[in-house]
Amino acid sequence: MARDRVVVVGAGMMGSGIAAMAALAGNKVTLVDVSETAVARGLEKAKACIQLRQENDLATPAEAEAAAANLSTSVDTEKAVAEACMVIEAIVEKLSAKQALFQQLDQWLPPEVPVCSNTSGLRITDISALCTCHPERTVTTHFWLPAHLVPLVEVVMGDKTDEAVAVQVRDELRRWKKSPVLVRRDLPGQLANRVFQAIIREAIDIVASGLASAEDVDTAIAAGMAMRFPVWGPLMHLDAIGTDLGMSVQETVLPSICADKQANPFIHDMVDRGDLGAKTGKGFYDWNERSIEAAMAKRDAFIIEACKVLNKLNQ
Ligand SMILES: NC(=O)c1ccc[n+]([C@@H]2O[C@H](COP(=O)([O-])OP(=O)(O)OC[C@H]3O[C@@H](n4cnc5c(N)ncnc54)[C@H](O)[C@@H]3O)[C@@H](O)[C@H]2O)c1
Repeated sequence: MARDRVVVVGAGMMGSGIAAMAALAGNKVTLVDVSETAVARGLEKAKACIQLRQENDLATPAEAEAAAANLSTSVDTEKAVAEACMVIEAIVEKLSAKQALFQQLDQWLPPEVPVCSNTSGLRITDISALCTCHPERTVTTHFWLPAHLVPLVEVVMGDKTDEAVAVQVRDELRRWKKSPVLVRRDLPGQLANRVFQAIIREAIDIVASGLASAEDVDTAIAAGMAMRFPVWGPLMHLDAIGTDLGMSVQETVLPSICADKQANPFIHDMVDRGDLGAKTGKGFYDWNERSIEAAMAKRDAFIIEACKVLNKLNQ
């Protein structure tokens, strides 16, 4: 049997978006889940992701039609991976479940097939702990939500990952029109969440200390630095202004910004009060007055437009 399929195990929110992107890149794709109902739901979601990209000129009608035809489903993981040239796991974020699946995949698959996990918070080193045959072909591929729109994928190497496998997976994801980054150590927060947490830590501290309101912090980021970020990262910014100036600004600002190693007491108090954000109606914002669904729709509409602009700029 030919090994020419990308197999995505877990047909939920992430797995369906990942399957859509794999199919749009011209791969045959099998979506696997535990029940016929789950795979049917996952397939519908994957098709909707493809359609959304087509409706927004991020895929041609011919590409979308071919991609939808490339999708199939299975509830039998062992049978599905018999045709796999690459496996991406996107099941529940539970270490024991991922370890059990990886242990089986390790035994079922020949060494040349990369086995990837979409884990957002676990270490691939721990997920592959029971892989006694070929842990060197295991790697994290952390797609960002929504996986069919956000280009970033963090390709994270575990302690035993062969860098050649990580590079092979990264190059394949580039073919899927993703923007993968290679992360050489298996640390909490991978790469992007380490940077994001530094921003969140300072954002909360600014609100906690009364320097500015939550809305103004978000506006300062959204209307300022975020306008440049899709094409102009902070390190490119340093090169543009000169590292000498960048260093001097660091010497002035760093002593007065937050360097906490724990979550701010401000967010602990929010959690204790039951102010858990949109799900309870109150967090940094009052969600009785706003709609989280509308905010999410606006976020996704912006990402779509940004993808279109980036495609144009990168042509
Ligand atoms: N939701 C996010 O924002 C996000 C972002 C990035 C990464 N992730 C990660 O992606 C993974 C999936 O997240 P999700 O939000 O898509 O979850 P989800 O709950 O929407 O989907 C998980 C699916 O996996 C299936 N499943 C569970 N065990 C299985 C098994 N042994 N074999 C086959 N299918 C199985 C479930 O039935 C379910 O359909 C998690 O590791 C999560 O941490 C999530």
